[in-house]
Amino acid sequence: MDFKLSEEQLMIRDAARDFAKTELLPGVIERDNKQEFPKEQVKRMGELGFLGMMASPEYGGGGMDTISYVLAMEELSKVDASCSVIVSVNNSLVCWGLDTYGNAEQKEKYLTKLATGESIGAFCLSEPEAGSDATSQKTTAIDKGDHYVLNGTKNWITNGNSADYYLVIAQTDKEKKHKGINAFIVEKGWEGFEVGPKEDKLGIRGSDTHSLIFNDVKVPKENRIGEDGFGFKFAMKTLAGGRIGIAAQALGIASGAYELAKEYAKVRKAFGTEIMNHQAIAFKLADMHVQIEAARMLVYKAAMDKDNHENYDLSGAMAKLAASQAAMDVSIEAVQIHGGNGFVKEYHVERLMRDAKITQIYEGTSEIQKIVISRSILRD
Ligand code: CAA
Ligand code: FAD
Repeated sequence: MDFKLSEEQLMIRDAARDFAKTELLPGVIERDNKQEFPKEQVKRMGELGFLGMMASPEYGGGGMDTISYVLAMEELSKVDASCSVIVSVNNSLVCWGLDTYGNAEQKEKYLTKLATGESIGAFCLSEPEAGSDATSQKTTAIDKGDHYVLNGTKNWITNGNSADYYLVIAQTDKEKKHKGINAFIVEKGWEGFEVGPKEDKLGIRGSDTHSLIFNDVKVPKENRIGEDGFGFKFAMKTLAGGRIGIAAQALGIASGAYELAKEYAKVRKAFGTEIMNHQAIAFKLADMHVQIEAARMLVYKAAMDKDNHENYDLSGAMAKLAASQAAMDVSIEAVQIHGGNGFVKEYHVERLMRDAKITQIYEGTSEIQKIVISRSILRD
């Protein structure tokens, strides 16, 4: 594996790092406290090209590779994981899904706006009774000839209120089980489409998570993505790439917490010396560094597999499993290294620790990644 980054990839990483420092860091604590959606920051990320990085240039995207995307995700996530989840959903679920499986009309109408950040997208698979068990879709989309009628509830949807367009997965033919599921593009404001209350969350509090209610929503047939019955495969294929984005988010949270802890250990004194000189602290930092580097290798490998058109179901799941565990372990240790200050908001590490937890839950829990991994290695 050759992980030597190109000049262009390094430029993208540096641009994301600069942006995170100058435009995300100020106000990140306040947005977390107030659960405030980063509206201005999202607008800027659109202008800078972070919202459609991998999308086709002919539809307004950046046409970049997955390595560039994970580098940007890592840098943004070091500072503000609420912003980076918006980037991840818009890039790897919504834009990628439309770019890869949408038809020319759908791309012209929707992708052009989503890839430039003029509009924001959401990906709606989970339901109150269908989270990990994603084939158990209860939301129905009944075929009425020239349109479908959508009924049901989606849960925990990222960008739930701030999105303009929603990719919604629903069951058309229950008899056919997962082969009777479809994916649709739904516009905010359509009659019968209601956004539920905002969730009050442990972490990524700046990102808006809502339930969505569909009550006899008419969806034109031209808004179905792919052939009839393609919806579940669409969701699985899209999520396989999405998991690389969340793995990069987790890597960023771990790296951000580690960097803060390392700097703190160099200046904080106890028992007449900087705490880095106590072996217990130095060894913690050594363990954190190794876990981050191991996760980074897996994240880059998964991104490389995707760029090389290799199968990335296994490498993406491995990357997400390892990086999310690293995010959790490293951020907990970062709080510990900060002592009492670690418990205080202005030192940032407690927020990173709270944000880390979601990376083990969304886009497939760690247990689900183990299902994907074990099925893959045992099949081979
Ligand atoms: N690519 C293509 N097809 C796939 C696939 C993949 N990666 N994974 C599964 N499939 C296909 C299978 O081939 C099968 O189709 P066929 O019968 O035609 O072969 C079909 O999907 C059903 O597959 P399984 O029998 O393996 O289904 P299962 O019920 O055992 O579930 C699962 C598999 C991997 C557990 C899946 O349900 C899953 O991924 N669950 C987790 C859901 C999830 O990740 N949700 C995230 C929501 S989005 C989100 O969270 C965004 C955010 O927070 C920001
Ligand atoms: P459950 O499926 O009920 O799982 C509960 C526990 O049981 C978990 O530990 C799980 O790993 C375990 N478990 C379940 N099945 C098995 C099994 N077969 N073997 C072993 N263990 C198992 N969804 C979207 O569609 N779009 C979004 O934008 C989105 N954003 C989200 C944002 C946030 C902040 C949150 C909290 C969730 C979001 N989700 C989104 C939903 C998320 O993907 C689900 O919460 C997740 O897939 C788990 O589903 P669940 O909550 O129903 O848990």
